[in-house]
Amino acid sequence: MTETRSFLSVSDLSSSDAEALIARSGELKARMKAQRPPQTLKGVTVGLLFEKPSTRTRTSFEVAAIKLGGDPIYLSANELQLSRGEPIKDTARILGSYLDAIVGRVYSHDTLVQLAEHSGRPVVNALSDAEHPTQALSDLFTIMEFRGRLRDLTMAFIGDGNNVCNSLLLGGALTGLNVTVSCPDGYEPDSSVLGTAKALAKKTGAVLAIVRDPKKAVADADVVYTDVWVSMGDEKEEKERLRDFKEYQVNSELMKAAPKGAVVMHCLPAHRGLEITDDVIEGERSLAWRQGENKLFGAAATLEFVAGKG
Ligand code: CP
Ligand code: NVA
Repeated sequence: MTETRSFLSVSDLSSSDAEALIARSGELKARMKAQRPPQTLKGVTVGLLFEKPSTRTRTSFEVAAIKLGGDPIYLSANELQLSRGEPIKDTARILGSYLDAIVGRVYSHDTLVQLAEHSGRPVVNALSDAEHPTQALSDLFTIMEFRGRLRDLTMAFIGDGNNVCNSLLLGGALTGLNVTVSCPDGYEPDSSVLGTAKALAKKTGAVLAIVRDPKKAVADADVVYTDVWVSMGDEKEEKERLRDFKEYQVNSELMKAAPKGAVVMHCLPAHRGLEITDDVIEGERSLAWRQGENKLFGAAATLEFVAGKG
C-alpha cells in the first residue's frame, strides 16, 4: 500500500525528509523545464481548500498537480457549506471520500488538524496562522540552488515573528541553516516553535537566535529575509503594527550593514515602502522572483511526498 502522510508543520519532517524534498524539487525543476515532468500523480485528485486569498501557493499547487498528471480542484471556503456553518469535521469526512489529498490555507491551524483527522487523507498546510511550511521548503531549495549548501549559512529574518518565520526556524533547524530573527519586542516567533526548533537544531548544529537590532542581525547574514508586517488575519492591528515595525524595514541602508554577498528574500506579496523598499526588491541582490518561481517545484515535490508517489 502507498504510504501517505500529512505535512502540517516543518516539524513533521525529519532532516532526511527535508533534504530529500529539496533535492526532489531540483530534479522536478529540471524535468519540468525540459517539458518532461514525470506523471507521478496520475489518478490523484487534489482538493485545494482556501479560506484566504493566494496568488502563488494556489497556482503553483494547481499547476504542479496538472503537470504531474493529477487532477486539482479549487474549493473556495466561502463557496462551501462551511460558510453557512457546516462543521469542518463533516466537511472533512465528505471531502476525504472524494479526494486523495487536500491542500488547505486556513486562519486557524486547528482547522488543518481537524481536516487531516476526519478526512483520513494527507493534508498539506498551504499557510495557517501558525506556519507556512511549503514556503520554507521551497525557500530552502532556492538557497540550496543559489549557494550549493545550507549548513553553516546564516539567514537573518527581519520583521514579524510570524507563520513564515516559524517555518523557517524549523527548516533551518532541520537542515543546519542558522536563523537569526530580528523583531520588535512583543513580535517574537512562537515560543513553543522556537523550543522545538532549538531541540531539532541540536542534531544539525544550526544556531537559532533573536537579536533585537536589525543591523546587528544582518552583520554576518548570507540571506536577509523579510515578510509582510500585517499578515492575513492581523488586519485589525494594522495601525500599531506599522508603527512598531518602522525600524525593521529592509532597505539599502540595512543592506549596507550586511556582508557584500548577502542576498535578499521575500516570500511575497511585498509592500514596497513598508517591510522592503522598491530598490532592494528590484535590485541585483534580490532572489524574490526566483524564490516565487521555485514554489512550483516545491509544490510538485510536496504533492509527490504526501501522496506517497515519485
Ligand atoms: N508566498 C505566498 O504564499 O504567496 P501567496 O499568498 O500568493 O500564495
Ligand atoms: N505572513 C504572511 C504570508 C503571506 C504569504 C501572511 O500570513 O499573510
